[in-house]
Amino acid sequence: MSAGFKHNHLLGIADLDANDVTEILDAAAAFIEVSRRPVRKVPTLRGKTVINMFFEASTRTRTSFELAGKRLSADVVNISGSGSSLSKGESLLDTCKTVAAMQPDIVVIRHSASGAPHFVAERVGCSVVNGGDGAHEHPTQALLDAFAIRQSLGTLEGLKVAICGDISHSRVARSNARLLNLFGSEVRFCAPGTLLPPEAATLGAKVYHRLDEALEGVDVIMLLRIQRERLEGPLLPSLREYSRIFGVSQRHLDGAAERAIVMHPGPMNRGVEIHPALADSDRSVVLDQVEAGVAVRMAVLYLLAKGVRAQTPAQAATDGG
Ligand code: NCD
Repeated sequence: MSAGFKHNHLLGIADLDANDVTEILDAAAAFIEVSRRPVRKVPTLRGKTVINMFFEASTRTRTSFELAGKRLSADVVNISGSGSSLSKGESLLDTCKTVAAMQPDIVVIRHSASGAPHFVAERVGCSVVNGGDGAHEHPTQALLDAFAIRQSLGTLEGLKVAICGDISHSRVARSNARLLNLFGSEVRFCAPGTLLPPEAATLGAKVYHRLDEALEGVDVIMLLRIQRERLEGPLLPSLREYSRIFGVSQRHLDGAAERAIVMHPGPMNRGVEIHPALADSDRSVVLDQVEAGVAVRMAVLYLLAKGVRAQTPAQAATDGG
């Protein structure tokens, strides 16, 4: 019986401690097997309802939450911003109350406003998962990144992790920095000054402006795209110049640790922040991150759903398999 996880919602890594993270990753380690079988389904969440509300573009996060719910036998419904009544002027709160009246067990929300999932969580009766809110947090991304790091390097402790790219607009960078801080790993942010957040120090990150210095001795290189949809004004002279100075290619691995892995949450802008050959190299764990995403989201749905935890994740992952 996994009795440790006490949270009703997953709104941010800021609400978790290292034990919570480890519990989620251990559950995900049990569930990852389900996706590798010929029949990718267990009955754990039969009779439960998950509603995905994605008010911003998404490929990986939305699809993997949907698959995670379906592989656990939950009923999963997807609502998108453009196809919903938000496009007719309904407020986020009215949309969420409407959805809550349909009695879901868990709602997953992605929204461009920081704090939107927290606002909703205080006003609906079901569990809320943050699928990415503005530039604030993206907790399941940091958890799946942690899963992929642990899978490749065996630990989350004592690592040196460089996060490079558009950090100021990145909820992925913020959630990852918070998670890695919990395990005492060193976080480095590398970006031009215009793409660095003012709160780098509060996030426990050391700031670098030169790639070769930032990548010296690192175990993990995490690359982020320029979030053109969030840029307000010209923060960069040109993408070409950015890629010449901050684009990472195989030669940049020279100064990194021998075992260093390269990560990207996607979507990648090949030839901008990451050289195509590096993205496709054996140092890249980008597709392992995607696989981990389904397992981590299965773990999160399992841990948040009420009344299913008489089974351990290992039992849940074998039941009906
Ligand atoms: C990220 C996001 O949406 O924050 N993508 C993702 O969830 N895999 C990063 C991004 O959009 O660049």
